[in-house]
Amino acid sequence: MMLRNLVRTSVKLSFQLSLRAYSVEAIKKRPPKILITGGLGQLGVECAKYLREKYGRNQVILSDIIKPTEEIVSDGPYMFVDILDFKGLQKIVVDHRVDWLIHFSALLSAIGEQNVSLAVRVNIEGMHNVIELAKQYKLRIFVPSTIGAFGPDSPRNPTPNVTIQRPRTIYGVSKVHAELLGEYYHYKFGLDFRCLRFPGGNYQCYLKPETRLPMMHVRDALRALSEFLEVPNEKLIRRVYNVTAMSFTPEELADAMSKYLPELRISYQPDSRQDIADSWPQVFDDSEARRDWDWRHELDLDDLVKLMLKEVKEKIIVK
Ligand SMILES: NC(=O)c1ccc[n+]([C@@H]2O[C@H](COP(=O)([O-])OP(=O)(O)OC[C@H]3O[C@@H](n4cnc5c(N)ncnc54)[C@H](O)[C@@H]3O)[C@@H](O)[C@H]2O)c1
Repeated sequence: MMLRNLVRTSVKLSFQLSLRAYSVEAIKKRPPKILITGGLGQLGVECAKYLREKYGRNQVILSDIIKPTEEIVSDGPYMFVDILDFKGLQKIVVDHRVDWLIHFSALLSAIGEQNVSLAVRVNIEGMHNVIELAKQYKLRIFVPSTIGAFGPDSPRNPTPNVTIQRPRTIYGVSKVHAELLGEYYHYKFGLDFRCLRFPGGNYQCYLKPETRLPMMHVRDALRALSEFLEVPNEKLIRRVYNVTAMSFTPEELADAMSKYLPELRISYQPDSRQDIADSWPQVFDDSEARRDWDWRHELDLDDLVKLMLKEVKEKIIVK
């Protein structure tokens, strides 16, 4: 019995020692070199901007399989990386002495349902590649998950951090797989795996007006990601946390927008995505993130509407 306890204690100790210690002080002295996969999507470009401002332009390498615009190339380092090519990924990690890997490559829910076998390859095989690499080179690895990692058997209002998941989309299934694999590698090998479940980021008019979903502005999502990556390991009770800012329905969003756009009219055309949304959480309980590492959202529905209108106006003026 004692021997078993001793073995257990030494396993725990060596596991704790093998976790790379990135204190906030250490990060200030030598900012991390960060690789973002799937970086030319909705989150990646904004994320690179955010982290380059914080750690320096050349500290963040954006990568994807898409040909970049001139603007992307002039903003900072960009490389071709196919998530299915282990050796290619490995070369970049070694050549550029990567410390943190932010893994955004994925096929999302609607596209994934249209091409399940490709979603399995990109979302599941791709995850296998990055997690092995992170283990081999002791990288801190961030993998976003989603409210889509829950399903019709999950409690929906509110959805706690730990509960029944059982999603019914390949996207959701691949995200549960990523969460569990990451936790397993953390407990087995001491991998510094971190995962936030983000709510939706944009307005979806292909839903019924009364469909309630958790939401957050991308600026809050990126701040959550960046703050979460700097939390000392000893504060993290979990490797996977729900985060959110608010919950609203398309109708409530339209009401909030009509304060600024009184002439706004919306038509609702629910399609197959309604069924997916009906299986997702309505209210996301992120109290554990608030408790463990002080997560606080800054932007509520009114701020979101103001920012959205400002951004659309700027885009129209530029064009
Ligand atoms: N946007 C959201 O509201 C939201 C919410 C929750 C979670 N997430 C997660 O955040 C991550 C990024 O989301 P997003 O909205 O930017 O997605 P996105 O679809 O806009 O971008 C995904 C990127 O992955 C790339 N990709 C596809 N196949 C690849 C391959 N073989 N190799 C390398 N890259 C490949 C695509 O080219 C694309 O640029 C995803 O993992 C997603 O699940 C996003």
